[in-house]
Amino acid sequence: MFIIGGTSSQSISKGISSYLKIPLAKSISYRFPDGEFYVKILDKIKGEDVILIQTTYPDPKIVELLIIKDALIEAGAKRIALVIPYFGYSRQDKKFGDGEPISARAMAKHTSTDTEIVLTVDPHKEHILNFFTTNACSCNATTDIANYLKNKDVDFVLAPDKGAKDRVEKTSKIIGCEYDYMEKTRIDGETIKIKPKNLDAKNKKVAIIDDIISTGGTMAKSIEQLKNQGAKQVLVACTHGLFACNSIEKLKKAGCDEIISTNTIENKFNKVDVSPCISNKLKKHFIDNKGI
Ligand code: R5P
Repeated sequence: MFIIGGTSSQSISKGISSYLKIPLAKSISYRFPDGEFYVKILDKIKGEDVILIQTTYPDPKIVELLIIKDALIEAGAKRIALVIPYFGYSRQDKKFGDGEPISARAMAKHTSTDTEIVLTVDPHKEHILNFFTTNACSCNATTDIANYLKNKDVDFVLAPDKGAKDRVEKTSKIIGCEYDYMEKTRIDGETIKIKPKNLDAKNKKVAIIDDIISTGGTMAKSIEQLKNQGAKQVLVACTHGLFACNSIEKLKKAGCDEIISTNTIENKFNKVDVSPCISNKLKKHFIDNKGI
């Protein structure tokens, strides 16, 4: 058995390789002058099971994934398990208006081809797993994020909206602290107040947790409000740190004291490693053949 990591998931690939004691397949890859991707698998993988790992963000990484998968098929791989640590386009998980695609379904269909199983981490909505035309399952990074926050002495964990409440409830149990979510209250026609529904942030150290930070708008708004309400420190943690559109500057400007993300998308805020969590799922559902 071999592991091969695309260029967007080198850190997780190394982590899974060392956790499961499965070698990384040797390969060379580069981009042609016109930007197109080239890969060559150097190890003999004929008849071997292979775990291919690649986050599908940003867009060129999707093409890489498809090309590497084809190289594996050409080289005679027996079964392919595909790990997509961050599954791009997962937020367009339904048609919000006429004329729109269901982008998550389109991506799922194309990535499913020739794979035995697809595994992802904290999909924005679990129902997107049904879009894959092969076996699909997900890992939950909540425990890993909670374990990191355990040493941070936070007074409470907070969801930026009611929809993310279950995640912080679970986290709070692991840390042994309280939890709450941000609630919007309309004061009058022009004023909306956003504050934790039940808890008082004054002089408290608060960690806000969400699945994705993209533009940082959601987090920045919450940080500002908490600081206005007298919070001592505000940390933000997410599974997938896309950090688009100057979001880091935005978070800092809002008064953020620490930014934390897992390594599903590689960046300098990767403080939580999800490779053990992915490895355990792979072992159960692919290596030990226990099915989904
Ligand atoms: C929304 O449903 C997600 O859970 C995140 O809150 C959202 O994607 C964050 O986006 P942004 O960082 O652009 O506010």
